[in-house]
Amino acid sequence: MAIKLTWYGHACWSIETPNGTLLIDPFLSGNPVAPVKADQVNADFILVSHGHGDHLGDTVDIAKRTGAEVISNFEIAGYCEGHGCKVHDLHIGGSKVFPFGRVKLTIAHHGSSFPDGRYAGNPSGFLLTLGKKKIYDAADTGLFYDMKLIGEEGIDLAMLPIGDNYTMGPEDALRAIKLIKPKVMIPMHYNTFDLLKQDAKAFAASVKKAVPTTKVVVLQPGESYELK
Ligand code: NI
Ligand code: MN
Repeated sequence: MAIKLTWYGHACWSIETPNGTLLIDPFLSGNPVAPVKADQVNADFILVSHGHGDHLGDTVDIAKRTGAEVISNFEIAGYCEGHGCKVHDLHIGGSKVFPFGRVKLTIAHHGSSFPDGRYAGNPSGFLLTLGKKKIYDAADTGLFYDMKLIGEEGIDLAMLPIGDNYTMGPEDALRAIKLIKPKVMIPMHYNTFDLLKQDAKAFAASVKKAVPTTKVVVLQPGESYELK
């Protein structure tokens, strides 16, 4: 089963599976590095990690245009349903099998409010089981030791933030890799704005030295990685 991931910059991913295309945290309008516009992307499902504008982003517009089902926590799913979207709500620790595979919400140490300040539930990450592959998208979070438990699931690919300031920086992302032990790691949530500037190549070199069993793949916005 071929799984193709495309990074649209920041924390936005398109994941094409044989049974549907997922879009994660579609922050495209207002994202200075996004290689596509919100009206150019396709999705069957949209996963939203938390309510901040750089993650909820264009979810409602894309979901209404494409008919995609929004998968998120109770509060965000309710918000999107109120805006006319098809939704499914989950909460942390809970999982459900969808046509493309299983989604489990994982903890994330962060905030989560809507752009207008209203409460948007707890932030989350995602553990995806797509065929035989396990993908962990940590979303916005600081380092936490329970990443070890997520690693025990056997992670093929982890997307982790390295931008610092709002999330883990490179040093804690390296510690996260030691806990998760993914086969492949792709850094995200960096270089979107000056505040999040990081040297991903230097980070990759530090991981290669400290955790040689994990391969870091550095993508540019718009580039893809095929998980085989
Ligand atoms: Ni955030
Ligand atoms: Mn963010």
